[in-house]
Amino acid sequence: MPPRVVLVGAMGAGKTTVAELLGEAWGVAVRDTDHDIVASTGREISDIFVESGEDVFRDLEAAAVATALAEHDGVLALGGGAVLRPETRELLADARVVFLRVGLTDAVKRVGLGTGRPLLLGNVRARIKALLDERSSIYESVATHVVETDGRTPDEVAAAIRELV
Ligand code: S3P
Repeated sequence: MPPRVVLVGAMGAGKTTVAELLGEAWGVAVRDTDHDIVASTGREISDIFVESGEDVFRDLEAAAVATALAEHDGVLALGGGAVLRPETRELLADARVVFLRVGLTDAVKRVGLGTGRPLLLGNVRARIKALLDERSSIYESVATHVVETDGRTPDEVAAAIRELV
């Protein structure tokens, strides 16, 4: 059975927290591809980026998404860059995909110093802006639903998703 909902969106959109809330509300299991990668490799995401490079991380991520989509029928949160891989976008074509949209100001507030997020090293605001500019249309292209998160708590976002799907 496919996941009942897959959450996509940028860092700071609240995917992990909202996924937990939906899992509790629906009484279903929750998976998060970042956690799956850490569990299967025994390495932190930032160590994989620094020691092996982003391409190796994206390979691990594409494999983690494919496995989770095949095995898991609860709520699935994808890392912010998972949709960059065309093979992952193809797999999402059959899924119910909710894009949690976040603007620059709220994303910056939520990620704080960006600890543990290697792509935010340096100027967090500039890095997030570049990622939002580059990826927003990709998130839209894979989404079956779009939910705004700016100015909303994770509970409010989860409630909005429960009304939608
Ligand atoms: C990334 C997002 C992170 C994590 C990695 C790369 C990205 O996940 O997969 O640091 O490319 O946007 P979250 O979106 O869960 O923070």
